Amino acid sequence: MELTVDLLILISSLVFLRLWWRHWSKTGGGPKNLPPGPPGWPLVGNLFQIILQRRPFIFVVRDLRAKYGPIFTLQMGQRTMIIVTDSALIHEALVQRGPTFASRPRDSPIRLVFSMGKCAINSAEYGPLWRALRRNFVSELVSPARIRQCGWIRKWAVQNHMKRLADESFRNNVVHVMRNTRLTVCSILICLCFGARIPEEKILEIESVLKEVMMMTTPKLSDFLPVLGVVLRKQMKEAKELRRKQVRARRGFVERGEKVDGLEMVSPVGAAYMDSLIGLRPGNRGPLGEEEIVTLVSEVISAGTDTSATSIEWALLHVVQDQSIQERMYKEIVDRVGKNGAVNEDDVEEMPYLTAVVKETFRRHPPSHFLLSHAVAAEGAAVELGGYGVPAGVHVEFYTAWVTEDPAMWKEPGEFRPERFLEGGDGADVDLTGTRGVLKMMPFGAGRRICPAWSLGVLHVKLLLARMVHGFRWLPDPTSPPDPTETFAFTVVMKNPLKAVILPR
Ligand code: HEM
Repeated sequence: MELTVDLLILISSLVFLRLWWRHWSKTGGGPKNLPPGPPGWPLVGNLFQIILQRRPFIFVVRDLRAKYGPIFTLQMGQRTMIIVTDSALIHEALVQRGPTFASRPRDSPIRLVFSMGKCAINSAEYGPLWRALRRNFVSELVSPARIRQCGWIRKWAVQNHMKRLADESFRNNVVHVMRNTRLTVCSILICLCFGARIPEEKILEIESVLKEVMMMTTPKLSDFLPVLGVVLRKQMKEAKELRRKQVRARRGFVERGEKVDGLEMVSPVGAAYMDSLIGLRPGNRGPLGEEEIVTLVSEVISAGTDTSATSIEWALLHVVQDQSIQERMYKEIVDRVGKNGAVNEDDVEEMPYLTAVVKETFRRHPPSHFLLSHAVAAEGAAVELGGYGVPAGVHVEFYTAWVTEDPAMWKEPGEFRPERFLEGGDGADVDLTGTRGVLKMMPFGAGRRICPAWSLGVLHVKLLLARMVHGFRWLPDPTSPPDPTETFAFTVVMKNPLKAVILPR
């Protein structure tokens, strides 16, 4: 009898607590007029409902979108997330009212630890520090003049890439696309940052630690479980230690002309991104500390490696699966440079079919399904979006992948069809930066926070693809046929990485 009464009390308290939470919870209406969303539980909100699904967040969001519409709220523990999935709303927030939504949330503990008090472009709040860092990044790393000046780095890395593929094919009969591409893109970025050619074994070491860190920092769920922070700290320490060594080596070279064994400093002083950081005093403050420089160069390597490598892997999946796409690309390349010529950076700008394949890859397989978290500046009052309130500091997540899956925007959006980007196609007028017409795709974001290196990213993808298709004929590996299943690993990648047979052309 006593047990029954206890149980009754417990159950009614839980029901009361839930009703109370529903009333006061910030999710779904209430005094703050937040967008609707699934009702949550006291304290944890929707956190466990999401985690217990044991599916990548991107898949959960697809289902929630179908139920709650173009803008909805999730209460993840103490954190409120507003998810925006609709092209017109994204355009309004990022382009028309750009400055309003251009900040980043303050409370992302793990990314904060990794980003050294927000002294990184991607995590800095909208303001003078962000502006100064981003301006320096653009002029020192990705301005057209800088891109041209550093062409020799790509030439060197792509030559190594082609040779490595040929060797791997000779040894194993197949090649691993992702592994090779990541290594190449990473070595280009390291050389751009440090002006040093680093041996490939060393790059592999750096890159694998970095991947572990990225894997743990990106899925936003980990931010809600502080216990993960302890596990993370060790990996982050290793990653930072490696980078710190490189920063010291370059600094020694720039300031005192020192040489380090095993590091070949190939860029003269002033030609590497890191050199510009040594003298920088961003946002009216003193010079950057060593930790901050480490963070700023790590950001380049983390942001640029997987995004580009993922796109190349997805493009090659279609090249392998659809030989007609491959032949059309090959013909375009041979028409431009001949069978034995070398494709260079100017050539890829003159190849409309290659451009269409790359755009279709970004549309059908955007490396990142969300942008980085945006926020309304912390000092401001709540603003309105889509008829709902968006309070300052709340995480605003733009689910951009939906726009490229939307049948109202694209004919048969699930199909991979590069022709749609040629004359008369449903993507013919679409540009990659979302500045022209309706926002139909935004693999790099749009507006103030758009990826500042989007043109460099596109160049890496085009150049490597063109060289690979020109140099080899790509065929499926009969022992491990290509599988388009996707999974989340910082970017959205192939669950079973692509392996292919290559034959010299
Ligand atoms: C195919 C390649 C790439 C893709 C698809 C890509 C995509 C993105 C996306 C979606 C964002 C977030 C935009 C937002 O939050 O609104 C971003 C930001 C950023 N990306 Fe990229 N990116 C690529 C290559 C690169 C490369 C090569 C670099 C560095 C050399 C880079 C550096 C950055 C930085 C620093 C930011 C932060 C910008 C800011 O917060 O102001 N990205 N990128």
